[in-house]
Amino acid sequence: MEEKINWWKNSVIYQIYPLSFNDSNNDGIGDINGIREKLDYLKNLGVDVIWFSPIYESPMVDNGYDISDYYKINPIFGTIEDFKNLLNEVHEKGMRLIMDLVVNHTSNEHVWFKEALSNPNSKYRDYYIWRDKPSDINSVFSGPAWTFDKMSNQYYFHLFAKEQPDLNWQNEDLRKEIYQIINYWLDFGIDGFRLDVIDLIGKNIDNKQVADGPFLEKHLKEMYDNCFRDRDVMTVGETPALSVDRAKELTTYPKNYLDMVFQFSHIALDEVKGKSKWHKKMLDLVELKELFQSIQNTFKTSGWTSLFWSNHDQPRAVSRYGDENYNYESATMLMTVLYGLKGTPFIYQGEELGMTGIKFDSINQYKDVESINMYNEYLNLGYDEKWILDALHTKSRDNSRTPMQWDNSKYAGFSKVKPWIEVNENYKNINAQNQLNDKNSVYNYFKKFFELRKNYQTFIDGETKFVEIKSKNIFAYQRLYKNKNILIIGNFNNKPNELTIDIENYTLLLTNYENKKIKNILPPYWVGVFMEELNDDN
Ligand code: GLC
Ligand code: CA
Repeated sequence: MEEKINWWKNSVIYQIYPLSFNDSNNDGIGDINGIREKLDYLKNLGVDVIWFSPIYESPMVDNGYDISDYYKINPIFGTIEDFKNLLNEVHEKGMRLIMDLVVNHTSNEHVWFKEALSNPNSKYRDYYIWRDKPSDINSVFSGPAWTFDKMSNQYYFHLFAKEQPDLNWQNEDLRKEIYQIINYWLDFGIDGFRLDVIDLIGKNIDNKQVADGPFLEKHLKEMYDNCFRDRDVMTVGETPALSVDRAKELTTYPKNYLDMVFQFSHIALDEVKGKSKWHKKMLDLVELKELFQSIQNTFKTSGWTSLFWSNHDQPRAVSRYGDENYNYESATMLMTVLYGLKGTPFIYQGEELGMTGIKFDSINQYKDVESINMYNEYLNLGYDEKWILDALHTKSRDNSRTPMQWDNSKYAGFSKVKPWIEVNENYKNINAQNQLNDKNSVYNYFKKFFELRKNYQTFIDGETKFVEIKSKNIFAYQRLYKNKNILIIGNFNNKPNELTIDIENYTLLLTNYENKKIKNILPPYWVGVFMEELNDDN
Protein backbone atom coordinates (compact mmCIF):
# COMPACT_ATOMS: atom_id res chain seq x y z
CA MET A 1 0.00 0.00 0.00
CA GLU A 2 1.47 3.29 -1.08
CA GLU A 3 1.36 6.38 1.03
CA LYS A 4 -0.99 9.09 -0.14
CA ILE A 5 0.27 12.10 -2.06
CA ASN A 6 0.36 14.82 0.50
CA TRP A 7 -0.85 17.86 -1.43
CA TRP A 8 -2.59 19.11 1.69
CA LYS A 9 0.72 19.60 3.47
CA ASN A 10 1.54 22.44 1.14
CA SER A 11 -1.96 23.95 0.99
CA VAL A 12 -3.46 27.06 2.47
CA ILE A 13 -6.97 26.26 3.62
CA TYR A 14 -9.69 28.87 3.97
CA GLN A 15 -12.80 28.27 6.04
CA ILE A 16 -16.06 29.70 4.78
CA TYR A 17 -19.00 30.07 7.12
CA PRO A 18 -21.65 30.10 4.38
CA LEU A 19 -24.32 31.90 6.40
CA SER A 20 -22.08 34.94 6.74
CA PHE A 21 -19.91 34.97 3.63
CA ASN A 22 -21.83 36.57 0.78
CA ASP A 23 -25.54 36.87 0.00
CA SER A 24 -26.24 36.70 -3.76
CA ASN A 25 -30.05 36.84 -3.73
CA ASN A 26 -30.48 39.46 -1.02
CA ASP A 27 -32.46 37.57 1.55
CA GLY A 28 -29.98 38.37 4.31
CA ILE A 29 -28.36 34.93 4.31
CA GLY A 30 -25.09 34.00 2.66
CA ASP A 31 -25.35 31.37 -0.06
CA ILE A 32 -23.55 29.16 -2.57
CA ASN A 33 -23.87 31.56 -5.48
CA GLY A 34 -22.50 34.27 -3.23
CA ILE A 35 -19.41 32.14 -2.71
CA ARG A 36 -19.07 31.64 -6.47
CA GLU A 37 -18.80 35.43 -6.88
CA LYS A 38 -15.80 35.52 -4.56
CA LEU A 39 -13.62 32.70 -5.85
CA ASP A 40 -11.16 35.06 -7.51
CA TYR A 41 -10.83 36.96 -4.25
CA LEU A 42 -9.78 33.69 -2.59
CA LYS A 43 -7.52 32.55 -5.42
CA ASN A 44 -5.79 35.92 -5.40
CA LEU A 45 -5.15 35.62 -1.66
CA GLY A 46 -3.30 32.35 -2.25
CA VAL A 47 -5.96 29.92 -1.08
CA ASP A 48 -5.61 26.30 -2.27
CA VAL A 49 -8.46 24.60 -0.46
CA ILE A 50 -11.82 25.91 0.70
CA TRP A 51 -13.61 24.32 3.62
CA PHE A 52 -17.32 24.89 3.97
CA SER A 53 -19.16 24.76 7.26
CA PRO A 54 -22.23 22.52 6.70
CA ILE A 55 -24.64 23.37 3.89
CA TYR A 56 -26.82 20.26 4.13
CA GLU A 57 -30.51 20.36 4.93
CA SER A 58 -30.95 21.48 8.51
CA PRO A 59 -33.41 23.23 10.80
CA MET A 60 -30.40 25.42 11.75
CA VAL A 61 -30.67 25.15 15.52
CA ASP A 62 -26.86 25.02 15.54
CA ASN A 63 -26.41 26.79 12.21
CA GLY A 64 -26.16 23.61 10.14
CA TYR A 65 -24.29 21.44 12.63
CA ASP A 66 -27.67 19.77 13.10
CA ILE A 67 -28.23 17.89 9.83
CA SER A 68 -31.66 16.59 8.86
CA ASP A 69 -30.69 15.21 5.44
CA TYR A 70 -27.08 14.48 4.52
CA TYR A 71 -27.89 14.09 0.83
CA LYS A 72 -29.62 17.44 0.33
CA ILE A 73 -28.43 21.00 0.13
CA ASN A 74 -30.23 23.40 2.45
CA PRO A 75 -32.42 25.56 0.16
CA ILE A 76 -31.40 28.72 2.03
CA PHE A 77 -27.93 28.15 0.55
CA GLY A 78 -29.08 27.17 -2.95
CA THR A 79 -29.52 24.02 -4.99
CA ILE A 80 -27.45 20.98 -5.80
CA GLU A 81 -26.86 22.51 -9.27
CA ASP A 82 -25.44 25.63 -7.64
CA PHE A 83 -23.16 23.42 -5.63
CA LYS A 84 -22.09 21.41 -8.68
CA ASN A 85 -21.30 24.66 -10.51
CA LEU A 86 -19.35 25.96 -7.57
CA LEU A 87 -17.34 22.77 -7.30
CA ASN A 88 -16.51 22.88 -11.02
CA GLU A 89 -15.45 26.50 -10.80
CA VAL A 90 -13.29 25.82 -7.76
CA HIS A 91 -11.56 23.02 -9.67
CA GLU A 92 -11.21 25.09 -12.84
CA LYS A 93 -9.38 27.70 -10.82
CA GLY A 94 -7.01 25.07 -9.51
CA MET A 95 -8.39 25.00 -5.99
CA ARG A 96 -10.01 22.23 -4.00
CA LEU A 97 -13.08 22.02 -1.81
CA ILE A 98 -13.75 20.10 1.37
CA MET A 99 -17.04 19.79 3.22
CA ASP A 100 -17.92 19.54 6.86
CA LEU A 101 -19.22 16.20 8.04
CA VAL A 102 -21.20 16.05 11.25
CA VAL A 103 -21.70 12.42 12.22
CA ASN A 104 -21.47 12.40 15.98
CA HIS A 105 -25.12 13.48 15.95
CA THR A 106 -27.94 14.40 13.61
CA SER A 107 -30.75 16.89 13.89
CA ASN A 108 -33.80 15.73 15.81
CA GLU A 109 -35.59 16.33 12.51
CA HIS A 110 -33.59 13.69 10.69
CA VAL A 111 -35.91 10.93 9.51
CA TRP A 112 -33.91 8.36 11.52
CA PHE A 113 -34.62 10.20 14.74
CA LYS A 114 -38.25 10.82 13.87
CA GLU A 115 -38.65 7.09 13.26
CA ALA A 116 -36.76 6.26 16.44
CA LEU A 117 -39.11 8.49 18.41
CA SER A 118 -42.41 7.58 16.85
CA ASN A 119 -41.71 3.90 16.50
CA PRO A 120 -39.48 2.51 19.24
CA ASN A 121 -39.51 -0.90 17.57
CA SER A 122 -38.05 0.34 14.32
CA LYS A 123 -34.45 -0.41 13.49
CA TYR A 124 -33.71 3.30 13.78
CA ARG A 125 -34.29 3.29 17.51
CA ASP A 126 -30.84 1.83 18.00
CA TYR A 127 -29.24 4.45 15.73
CA TYR A 128 -29.41 6.69 18.80
CA ILE A 129 -28.54 6.27 22.46
CA TRP A 130 -31.37 5.53 24.90
CA ARG A 131 -31.28 4.75 28.59
CA ASP A 132 -33.94 4.29 31.26
CA LYS A 133 -32.03 6.53 33.64
CA PRO A 134 -29.90 9.56 32.86
CA SER A 135 -26.31 9.79 34.09
CA ASP A 136 -24.70 13.04 35.21
CA ILE A 137 -23.00 13.81 31.90
CA ASN A 138 -23.62 17.40 30.85
CA SER A 139 -24.23 18.90 27.44
CA VAL A 140 -21.59 21.19 25.97
CA PHE A 141 -24.39 23.69 25.44
CA SER A 142 -25.53 23.81 29.12
CA GLY A 143 -27.77 21.48 31.10
CA PRO A 144 -27.87 17.68 31.17
CA ALA A 145 -26.94 15.62 28.14
CA TRP A 146 -30.18 13.64 28.47
CA THR A 147 -33.68 14.51 27.38
CA PHE A 148 -36.71 12.53 28.44
CA ASP A 149 -39.08 11.06 25.88
CA LYS A 150 -42.50 10.67 27.47
CA MET A 151 -43.84 8.23 24.98
CA SER A 152 -41.20 5.56 25.48
CA ASN A 153 -40.29 6.50 29.01
CA GLN A 154 -36.62 6.68 28.11
CA TYR A 155 -33.95 9.34 27.84
CA TYR A 156 -31.93 10.02 24.70
CA PHE A 157 -28.36 11.26 24.82
CA HIS A 158 -27.12 14.52 23.28
CA LEU A 159 -23.73 16.04 23.97
CA PHE A 160 -24.81 19.25 22.27
CA ALA A 161 -28.29 20.82 22.03
CA LYS A 162 -31.31 18.62 22.73
CA GLU A 163 -32.12 19.04 19.03
CA GLN A 164 -28.82 17.24 18.24
CA PRO A 165 -29.26 13.61 19.38
CA ASP A 166 -26.02 11.62 19.39
CA LEU A 167 -25.74 8.70 16.99
CA ASN A 168 -25.01 5.25 18.34
CA TRP A 169 -21.78 4.29 16.61
CA GLN A 170 -22.00 0.80 18.08
CA ASN A 171 -24.73 0.03 15.55
CA GLU A 172 -23.25 -1.49 12.42
CA ASP A 173 -26.11 -0.49 10.10
CA LEU A 174 -25.71 3.10 11.21
CA ARG A 175 -22.00 3.01 10.48
CA LYS A 176 -22.69 1.68 6.99
CA GLU A 177 -25.15 4.49 6.33
CA ILE A 178 -22.48 7.01 7.33
CA TYR A 179 -19.91 5.50 4.99
CA GLN A 180 -22.46 5.65 2.21
CA ILE A 181 -22.98 9.35 2.85
CA ILE A 182 -19.24 10.00 2.84
CA ASN A 183 -18.77 8.05 -0.37
CA TYR A 184 -21.70 9.80 -2.02
CA TRP A 185 -20.04 13.19 -1.60
CA LEU A 186 -16.58 11.93 -2.48
CA ASP A 187 -18.02 10.40 -5.68
CA PHE A 188 -19.68 13.76 -6.28
CA GLY A 189 -16.16 15.10 -6.63
CA ILE A 190 -15.31 16.92 -3.42
CA ASP A 191 -11.75 16.73 -2.15
CA GLY A 192 -12.25 15.69 1.44
CA PHE A 193 -13.85 16.45 4.74
CA ARG A 194 -13.46 18.26 7.99
CA LEU A 195 -14.87 15.79 10.50
CA ASP A 196 -16.85 17.51 13.23
CA VAL A 197 -16.06 16.42 16.83
CA ILE A 198 -14.88 13.10 15.44
CA ASP A 199 -13.05 12.20 18.66
CA LEU A 200 -16.45 11.61 20.27
CA ILE A 201 -17.62 8.68 18.12
CA GLY A 202 -15.74 6.07 20.14
CA LYS A 203 -17.52 6.85 23.39
CA ASN A 204 -18.71 4.45 26.03
CA ILE A 205 -21.07 6.64 28.01
CA ASP A 206 -21.85 4.03 30.64
CA ASN A 207 -18.22 4.25 31.70
CA LYS A 208 -18.25 8.02 31.18
CA GLN A 209 -15.62 7.69 28.47
CA VAL A 210 -16.73 10.34 26.06
CA ALA A 211 -13.79 11.84 24.20
CA ASP A 212 -11.16 9.52 22.70
CA GLY A 213 -13.32 6.62 23.87
CA PRO A 214 -12.46 2.93 23.67
CA PHE A 215 -13.99 2.43 20.19
CA LEU A 216 -12.52 5.50 18.52
CA GLU A 217 -9.69 3.81 16.75
CA LYS A 218 -11.79 0.92 15.56
CA HIS A 219 -14.40 3.25 14.05
CA LEU A 220 -11.85 5.57 12.49
CA LYS A 221 -10.05 2.67 10.89
CA GLU A 222 -13.26 1.24 9.52
CA MET A 223 -14.25 4.64 8.14
CA TYR A 224 -10.81 5.04 6.60
CA ASP A 225 -10.91 1.60 4.99
CA ASN A 226 -14.42 2.12 3.63
CA CYS A 227 -14.10 5.70 2.43
CA PHE A 228 -10.68 7.33 2.35
CA ARG A 229 -7.94 4.76 1.94
CA ASP A 230 -8.01 4.50 -1.84
CA ARG A 231 -8.79 8.09 -2.68
CA ASP A 232 -6.65 11.16 -3.14
CA VAL A 233 -8.62 13.26 -0.65
CA MET A 234 -7.82 14.91 2.65
CA THR A 235 -9.39 14.67 6.09
CA VAL A 236 -8.99 16.93 9.07
CA GLY A 237 -10.59 15.75 12.27
CA GLU A 238 -11.92 18.19 14.81
CA THR A 239 -10.65 16.54 17.99
CA PRO A 240 -10.94 18.91 20.94
CA ALA A 241 -10.11 16.24 23.50
CA LEU A 242 -7.39 14.26 21.76
CA SER A 243 -3.92 14.53 23.26
CA VAL A 244 -1.11 15.66 20.99
CA ASP A 245 0.49 12.23 21.19
CA ARG A 246 -2.71 10.54 20.11
CA ALA A 247 -3.09 13.07 17.32
CA LYS A 248 0.35 12.11 16.10
CA GLU A 249 -0.43 8.43 16.31
CA LEU A 250 -3.63 8.71 14.31
CA THR A 251 -2.06 10.86 11.60
CA THR A 252 1.07 8.75 11.17
CA TYR A 253 1.49 6.08 8.50
CA PRO A 254 0.38 3.31 8.44
CA LYS A 255 -2.43 4.29 10.81
CA ASN A 256 -3.12 7.68 9.24
CA TYR A 257 -6.88 7.28 9.62
CA LEU A 258 -6.92 11.07 9.60
CA ASP A 259 -4.54 13.29 7.65
CA MET A 260 -4.45 15.89 10.38
CA VAL A 261 -6.50 17.15 13.28
CA PHE A 262 -7.53 20.33 15.00
CA GLN A 263 -6.10 20.24 18.45
CA PHE A 264 -7.22 22.89 20.91
CA SER A 265 -4.62 23.00 23.65
CA HIS A 266 -3.20 26.35 22.51
CA ILE A 267 -6.70 27.82 22.40
CA ALA A 268 -7.42 26.94 26.03
CA LEU A 269 -4.49 28.91 27.47
CA ASP A 270 -6.52 32.05 28.14
CA GLU A 271 -9.13 30.10 30.08
CA VAL A 272 -9.07 29.32 33.79
CA LYS A 273 -8.19 25.62 34.07
CA GLY A 274 -10.97 23.43 35.40
CA LYS A 275 -13.64 26.08 34.77
CA SER A 276 -15.81 26.66 31.74
CA LYS A 277 -14.60 28.54 28.69
CA TRP A 278 -16.37 31.64 29.98
CA HIS A 279 -13.81 32.16 32.74
CA LYS A 280 -10.93 33.93 31.11
CA LYS A 281 -7.41 34.64 32.21
CA MET A 282 -4.48 36.54 30.72
CA LEU A 283 -2.54 34.63 28.14
CA ASP A 284 0.98 33.80 29.27
CA LEU A 285 3.17 34.05 26.18
CA VAL A 286 5.88 31.79 27.58
CA GLU A 287 3.30 29.10 28.23
CA LEU A 288 1.97 29.47 24.67
CA LYS A 289 5.44 29.18 23.14
CA GLU A 290 6.36 26.18 25.26
CA LEU A 291 3.18 24.48 24.17
CA PHE A 292 3.83 25.20 20.50
CA GLN A 293 7.40 23.96 20.88
CA SER A 294 6.22 20.69 22.33
CA ILE A 295 3.59 20.24 19.60
CA GLN A 296 6.19 20.98 16.94
CA ASN A 297 8.54 18.46 18.52
CA THR A 298 5.83 15.84 18.54
CA PHE A 299 5.32 16.18 14.79
CA LYS A 300 9.01 16.54 14.02
CA THR A 301 9.42 13.36 12.04
CA SER A 302 5.94 12.02 11.40
CA GLY A 303 2.25 12.76 11.60
CA TRP A 304 0.84 16.14 10.67
CA THR A 305 -0.95 19.02 12.30
CA SER A 306 -3.00 22.09 11.50
CA LEU A 307 -2.31 25.72 12.34
CA PHE A 308 -5.18 27.97 13.35
CA TRP A 309 -6.09 30.80 15.72
CA SER A 310 -9.70 31.07 14.81
CA ASN A 311 -12.75 29.36 13.35
CA HIS A 312 -16.54 29.69 13.56
CA ASP A 313 -16.45 28.61 17.22
CA GLN A 314 -13.60 30.83 18.35
CA PRO A 315 -13.39 34.58 18.86
CA ARG A 316 -11.48 36.65 16.33
CA ALA A 317 -7.70 36.43 16.73
CA VAL A 318 -7.00 40.20 16.62
CA SER A 319 -9.42 40.90 19.45
CA ARG A 320 -8.34 37.88 21.47
CA TYR A 321 -4.55 37.91 21.19
CA GLY A 322 -3.78 41.21 19.49
CA ASP A 323 -4.99 44.76 19.86
CA GLU A 324 -7.77 46.39 17.85
CA ASN A 325 -5.88 49.71 18.10
CA TYR A 326 -3.03 48.07 16.22
CA ASN A 327 -5.27 46.15 13.89
CA TYR A 328 -2.90 45.83 10.92
CA GLU A 329 0.20 45.28 13.01
CA SER A 330 -1.26 42.71 15.36
CA ALA A 331 -3.22 40.81 12.68
CA THR A 332 -0.10 40.44 10.54
CA MET A 333 2.16 39.58 13.49
CA LEU A 334 -0.26 36.93 14.71
CA MET A 335 -0.61 35.25 11.35
CA THR A 336 3.12 35.27 10.68
CA VAL A 337 4.21 33.68 13.94
CA LEU A 338 1.51 31.00 13.61
CA TYR A 339 1.68 30.16 9.91
CA GLY A 340 5.47 30.09 9.92
CA LEU A 341 5.28 26.93 12.02
CA LYS A 342 5.11 23.39 10.68
CA GLY A 343 1.59 22.34 9.71
CA THR A 344 -1.20 23.28 7.35
CA PRO A 345 -2.44 26.88 7.72
CA PHE A 346 -6.18 27.40 8.16
CA ILE A 347 -7.55 30.91 7.68
CA TYR A 348 -11.01 31.71 8.93
CA GLN A 349 -13.01 34.08 6.72
CA GLY A 350 -12.30 37.71 7.53
CA GLU A 351 -9.05 36.92 9.34
CA GLU A 352 -7.25 38.06 6.18
CA LEU A 353 -8.83 41.49 6.76
CA GLY A 354 -8.16 41.66 10.47
CA MET A 355 -11.88 41.48 11.21
CA THR A 356 -12.62 41.94 14.91
CA GLY A 357 -15.03 40.52 17.46
CA ILE A 358 -18.44 42.00 18.22
CA LYS A 359 -19.80 43.41 21.48
CA PHE A 360 -23.59 43.23 21.39
CA ASP A 361 -25.37 45.26 24.10
CA SER A 362 -28.22 42.86 24.58
CA ILE A 363 -28.66 39.09 24.57
CA ASN A 364 -31.36 39.58 21.93
CA GLN A 365 -28.72 40.43 19.37
CA TYR A 366 -26.95 37.11 19.88
CA LYS A 367 -27.98 34.23 17.63
CA ASP A 368 -25.77 31.37 18.78
CA VAL A 369 -27.52 28.58 20.67
CA GLU A 370 -24.51 28.10 22.93
CA SER A 371 -24.41 31.80 23.86
CA ILE A 372 -28.14 32.00 24.53
CA ASN A 373 -28.13 28.84 26.64
CA MET A 374 -25.11 30.05 28.58
CA TYR A 375 -26.80 33.41 29.26
CA ASN A 376 -29.83 31.69 30.75
CA GLU A 377 -27.81 29.14 32.68
CA TYR A 378 -25.53 31.75 34.25
CA LEU A 379 -28.42 34.07 35.09
CA ASN A 380 -30.03 31.15 36.92
CA LEU A 381 -26.78 30.47 38.72
CA GLY A 382 -26.92 34.02 40.01
CA TYR A 383 -24.23 35.64 37.86
CA ASP A 384 -24.48 39.32 37.18
CA GLU A 385 -25.82 40.15 33.71
CA LYS A 386 -22.86 42.43 33.17
CA TRP A 387 -20.44 39.58 33.87
CA ILE A 388 -22.33 37.36 31.44
CA LEU A 389 -22.36 39.92 28.63
CA ASP A 390 -18.72 40.61 29.24
CA ALA A 391 -17.95 36.89 28.92
CA LEU A 392 -19.98 36.80 25.69
CA HIS A 393 -18.07 39.79 24.35
CA THR A 394 -14.83 37.89 24.67
CA LYS A 395 -15.92 34.33 24.03
CA SER A 396 -19.26 34.07 22.19
CA ARG A 397 -19.12 32.16 18.94
CA ASP A 398 -21.01 35.03 17.32
CA ASN A 399 -17.77 37.05 17.48
CA SER A 400 -16.65 35.30 14.33
CA ARG A 401 -20.06 34.88 12.73
CA THR A 402 -20.90 38.47 11.80
CA PRO A 403 -21.11 39.08 8.03
CA MET A 404 -17.98 39.36 5.91
CA GLN A 405 -17.03 42.98 5.36
CA TRP A 406 -16.70 43.41 1.60
CA ASP A 407 -17.02 47.17 1.17
CA ASN A 408 -18.28 50.33 2.87
CA SER A 409 -21.83 50.25 1.52
CA LYS A 410 -24.74 49.55 3.84
CA TYR A 411 -24.52 46.05 5.33
CA ALA A 412 -20.86 45.95 4.30
CA GLY A 413 -21.64 44.70 0.78
CA PHE A 414 -22.65 41.35 2.26
CA SER A 415 -26.30 41.84 1.33
CA LYS A 416 -28.69 44.60 0.29
CA VAL A 417 -31.07 43.74 3.13
CA LYS A 418 -30.63 43.41 6.88
CA PRO A 419 -28.53 40.29 7.45
CA TRP A 420 -29.52 37.42 9.78
CA ILE A 421 -26.96 38.72 12.27
CA GLU A 422 -25.79 42.29 12.69
CA VAL A 423 -22.80 43.61 10.78
CA ASN A 424 -19.87 44.83 12.85
CA GLU A 425 -20.04 48.61 12.68
CA ASN A 426 -16.32 48.92 11.94
CA TYR A 427 -17.00 47.75 8.36
CA LYS A 428 -16.44 51.25 6.98
CA ASN A 429 -12.83 50.93 8.01
CA ILE A 430 -12.19 47.25 7.83
CA ASN A 431 -13.36 45.86 4.51
CA ALA A 432 -12.04 43.95 1.51
CA GLN A 433 -12.45 46.76 -0.99
CA ASN A 434 -10.23 49.12 1.01
CA GLN A 435 -7.65 46.44 1.54
CA LEU A 436 -7.40 45.17 -2.03
CA ASN A 437 -6.45 48.71 -3.08
CA ASP A 438 -3.92 49.22 -0.32
CA LYS A 439 -0.59 47.51 -0.66
CA ASN A 440 -0.02 47.81 3.07
CA SER A 441 -3.20 46.03 4.08
CA VAL A 442 -3.65 42.88 6.12
CA TYR A 443 -5.00 41.14 3.00
CA ASN A 444 -1.97 42.03 0.88
CA TYR A 445 0.38 41.06 3.66
CA PHE A 446 -1.29 37.63 3.90
CA LYS A 447 -0.88 37.28 0.16
CA LYS A 448 2.82 38.14 0.29
CA PHE A 449 3.41 35.86 3.24
CA PHE A 450 1.84 32.86 1.56
CA GLU A 451 3.73 33.49 -1.69
CA LEU A 452 6.88 33.39 0.38
CA ARG A 453 5.82 30.33 2.34
CA LYS A 454 5.26 28.37 -0.84
CA ASN A 455 8.73 29.15 -2.13
CA TYR A 456 10.64 27.42 0.62
CA GLN A 457 10.61 23.76 1.48
CA THR A 458 11.88 24.92 4.87
CA PHE A 459 8.33 25.87 5.85
CA ILE A 460 7.07 22.35 5.15
CA ASP A 461 9.89 20.20 6.45
CA GLY A 462 12.09 22.41 8.56
CA GLU A 463 12.63 21.57 12.19
CA THR A 464 11.24 24.18 14.58
CA LYS A 465 13.45 25.60 17.28
CA PHE A 466 12.18 28.39 19.50
CA VAL A 467 14.65 31.15 20.33
CA GLU A 468 14.68 32.89 23.71
CA ILE A 469 11.60 30.93 24.64
CA LYS A 470 11.50 32.50 28.12
CA SER A 471 11.07 36.00 26.71
CA LYS A 472 7.75 37.41 27.88
CA ASN A 473 7.13 39.57 24.82
CA ILE A 474 9.02 38.20 21.85
CA PHE A 475 7.77 35.20 19.86
CA ALA A 476 10.74 33.89 17.90
CA TYR A 477 11.78 30.63 16.32
CA GLN A 478 13.94 29.14 13.62
CA ARG A 479 12.95 26.66 10.97
CA LEU A 480 15.99 24.63 10.06
CA TYR A 481 16.21 22.82 6.76
CA LYS A 482 19.25 21.88 4.69
CA ASN A 483 21.04 25.08 3.75
CA LYS A 484 18.07 27.41 4.01
CA ASN A 485 17.06 28.42 7.51
CA ILE A 486 14.19 30.72 8.34
CA LEU A 487 13.99 32.89 11.42
CA ILE A 488 10.76 34.52 12.50
CA ILE A 489 10.70 37.22 15.16
CA GLY A 490 7.51 38.86 16.40
CA ASN A 491 6.83 41.43 19.10
CA PHE A 492 3.72 39.93 20.72
CA ASN A 493 2.95 43.14 22.51
CA ASN A 494 1.50 46.64 22.10
CA LYS A 495 4.68 48.20 23.50
CA PRO A 496 8.12 48.49 21.99
CA ASN A 497 10.45 45.68 23.03
CA GLU A 498 14.15 45.18 22.78
CA LEU A 499 15.57 42.87 20.12
CA THR A 500 18.21 40.68 21.70
CA ILE A 501 18.39 38.00 19.01
CA ASP A 502 21.40 38.01 16.74
CA ILE A 503 20.24 38.57 13.16
CA GLU A 504 23.59 39.36 11.63
CA ASN A 505 23.74 36.45 9.19
CA TYR A 506 20.15 36.81 8.14
CA THR A 507 18.42 38.64 5.31
CA LEU A 508 15.04 40.17 6.01
CA LEU A 509 12.48 38.78 3.55
CA LEU A 510 9.28 40.28 4.87
CA THR A 511 8.11 42.61 7.63
CA ASN A 512 4.87 44.33 8.54
CA TYR A 513 6.44 47.77 9.03
CA GLU A 514 7.25 50.04 6.13
CA ASN A 515 10.64 50.97 7.43
CA LYS A 516 12.81 47.97 6.64
CA LYS A 517 15.67 49.08 8.83
CA ILE A 518 15.74 47.13 12.06
CA LYS A 519 16.75 48.92 15.20
CA ASN A 520 17.39 47.42 18.58
CA ILE A 521 13.89 48.27 19.66
CA LEU A 522 11.02 46.53 17.90
CA PRO A 523 7.85 48.64 17.65
CA PRO A 524 4.46 47.26 18.79
CA TYR A 525 3.57 44.00 17.03
CA TRP A 526 6.52 44.22 14.70
CA VAL A 527 7.17 40.97 12.86
CA GLY A 528 9.88 39.89 10.46
CA VAL A 529 10.71 36.81 8.42
CA PHE A 530 14.43 36.26 7.90
CA MET A 531 16.45 33.85 5.81
CA GLU A 532 19.91 32.45 6.32
CA GLU A 533 21.50 30.71 3.34
CA LEU A 534 24.40 28.49 4.23
CA ASN A 535 27.13 27.62 1.85
CA ASP A 536 26.38 24.28 0.16
CA ASP A 537 29.77 22.76 0.95
CA ASN A 538 29.48 23.50 4.68
C1 GLC B 1 -18.24 21.42 16.50
C2 GLC B 1 -18.61 22.57 15.61
C3 GLC B 1 -19.56 23.46 16.34
C4 GLC B 1 -20.80 22.67 16.67
C5 GLC B 1 -20.46 21.38 17.42
C6 GLC B 1 -21.61 20.44 17.40
O1 GLC B 1 -17.53 21.79 17.61
O2 GLC B 1 -17.47 23.23 15.17
O3 GLC B 1 -19.89 24.61 15.63
O4 GLC B 1 -21.68 23.42 17.42
O5 GLC B 1 -19.38 20.69 16.84
O6 GLC B 1 -21.81 19.96 16.10
CA1 CA C 1 -29.07 34.44 0.21
